[in-house]
Amino acid sequence: MSNRKMITAALPYANGPVHIGHLAGVYIPADVYARFQRRSGKDVAFICGSDEHGIPITIRAKKEGVTPQDIVDKYHEIIKKSFSDLGISFDEYSRTTSEKHYETSQDFFKVLYEKGKFTEEVSEQYFDEQAGEFLADRYIVGTCPNCGNENAYGDQCEKCGSTLSPSELINPKSMLSGNVPILKDTKNWYLPLNEYEDFLNEWIIEGHKDDWKPNVYGQVKSWLNDGLKPRAMTRDLNWGVPVPLPNAEGKVLYVWFDAPIGYISFTKEWAEKNGKNWKDYWQNENSDLVHFIGKDNIVFHCIIFPAMMKAHGDYIMPKNVPAFEFLNLENDKISTSRNWAVWAHEYVEEFPGQQDVLRYALLSSAPETKDNNFTWKDFQTKNNSELVGIFGNFINRVAVLIHKYYDGVVPQGDVNSPELKEINKTAKEISGFLENYEFRNALTALMNLARFGNQYLQNEEPWKTIKDSPEKAAQSLFVGAQLAVALAQLCEPFMPFSSEKLLTMFNAKQVNWNDVETQSVLIETGHKINEASLLFSKIEDSVIEAQIEKLEQTKQNNKKTNPNANPMKEEISFDDFAKIDLRTATILEAEKVEKADKLLKFKVDTGVDIRTVVSGVAESFTPEELVGKQVMILLNLAPRKIRGIESQGMFLLTTKPDGKLSFVTPDDSNVENGIEIG
Ligand code: MF3
Ligand code: ZN
Repeated sequence: MSNRKMITAALPYANGPVHIGHLAGVYIPADVYARFQRRSGKDVAFICGSDEHGIPITIRAKKEGVTPQDIVDKYHEIIKKSFSDLGISFDEYSRTTSEKHYETSQDFFKVLYEKGKFTEEVSEQYFDEQAGEFLADRYIVGTCPNCGNENAYGDQCEKCGSTLSPSELINPKSMLSGNVPILKDTKNWYLPLNEYEDFLNEWIIEGHKDDWKPNVYGQVKSWLNDGLKPRAMTRDLNWGVPVPLPNAEGKVLYVWFDAPIGYISFTKEWAEKNGKNWKDYWQNENSDLVHFIGKDNIVFHCIIFPAMMKAHGDYIMPKNVPAFEFLNLENDKISTSRNWAVWAHEYVEEFPGQQDVLRYALLSSAPETKDNNFTWKDFQTKNNSELVGIFGNFINRVAVLIHKYYDGVVPQGDVNSPELKEINKTAKEISGFLENYEFRNALTALMNLARFGNQYLQNEEPWKTIKDSPEKAAQSLFVGAQLAVALAQLCEPFMPFSSEKLLTMFNAKQVNWNDVETQSVLIETGHKINEASLLFSKIEDSVIEAQIEKLEQTKQNNKKTNPNANPMKEEISFDDFAKIDLRTATILEAEKVEKADKLLKFKVDTGVDIRTVVSGVAESFTPEELVGKQVMILLNLAPRKIRGIESQGMFLLTTKPDGKLSFVTPDDSNVENGIEIG
């Protein structure tokens, strides 16, 4: 086992705040591991930062009507603060828009380029001529070939859930301009992953069969069985790290190329500030590289990034990639877009001083081997029955009794009491579990020591023996004090805030993990302890109900009363709406358009003028029945030529269940023409 631990946690996209799913499935376990390794005397670098490139960022920017830079500036700060508020002890939390990262990722690319590790391939990509940009899959909308949803994206239909590629969409349109995109040739640099199959097979499939988690190993194996293909490492986009080659304008590094290099860039930033050599962590066999990630990141950390590092040649391979499954919330998938989440920054505000309760609750339902579920009721039970009822209760009894009988001074006891062996046993157990990434078992072992302590006091009854055999009472509280301080020491990776409070309460200093594994006395007879204070407090029903009510409200907001209704389009501002000029109007004339089955041509009195409108309603109406009808018209739509006729507006129409169209008309038959609607 090496002395150095290079620990990374997946870089969160800076396109939104972090929620309990992120915390339970990556950041809290990673933090427990990092804290434990530091306590075990390892030379730890625990590195993370915001992932600020890629389509998730630009989509969010479009949605909020601001620039990508605005988005990442905003969410980077929110995310960084949440992590620090929750005690996630990163040695460095940086961001992929940092200068060092541009330099590092571009250098990395150049090394691969110069070594001839890339292939150049020309492919056809959708291009928006008006916007002058190539379109990412997410930026193309069209009709889903599987379910007919007209708002399917180029990578996925959200209505039927099928995965798509842009070329499968019927009637593709650019989300940037609404125009039909053209196909255009573009050159990109590919990493031929297929050439790394043998290496990956040997390293992972043969080498890590027994020590990697089955979910990780299984996924890698199935990818390798299916065979790998070259993958583009550059993209035609204007947000990202520019490709550092001549003639590569408008091209950036693929976000999954640049982001994992972020681990390296940020290690460099940290090393520079702290007088370390980053290569000791990344390019030295005496370093264990461990990536904490969610299961959707497995392919990137077990196949693509290792292939990149292998191609480069100077890097070590990860020792382990403990990937977690997903956490659900109240039996429903956590979703940022549906706002179905418990947000870290909101929790910190709403539960001040109770960070450890969330850490504890999330660790005890960490989705280690399968998806797991978080419920507020469970959260309450874990706090009230376990943290208050067992852990806090034991420590409080010990401290209060030592104050009551001995003026706050640890009494005399036998340093060879057999109960003290529980301490060393527990420390070793936790250590074994954590080395194996079994966080829930580790937490259970910790709680079992508190249970043991409670049981011990219950059996010993020092509050009774104090009268007739004070030596016995002293012995009980001497042992009690050792167990309490052991808990203070051992809970630190899991509940750092409580550990600190407890150490202060017992007037003790943090010691190495190994000391707790081997020493039987953690606090000496005669040692003066400080005032007892309550560690955890009961969470009332009303607090839990308010949280459940909040989620209930979200559910109401998300509920579709018509399952066939398309999801809401992107939100617009009032100013956007105010640009739309809708009016009442009357149809004066209507006639068929020659050789067009669907079209009718109209003369319309809009109050403002009399104009021509062409509309595709011929399959639902005869021209005669529409003359004299009052309708609603979008007046300021840019005129369009349809079959050679200029159409100067658009009627408001809706579709009936039988597929026939119907006009939206004013409720009142006596409305004048040209009246504004809004
Ligand atoms: N931002 C990615 C996600 O949230 C994770 C990036 S991890 C890195 O899924 F390795 F690429 F940095
Ligand atoms: Zn579909």
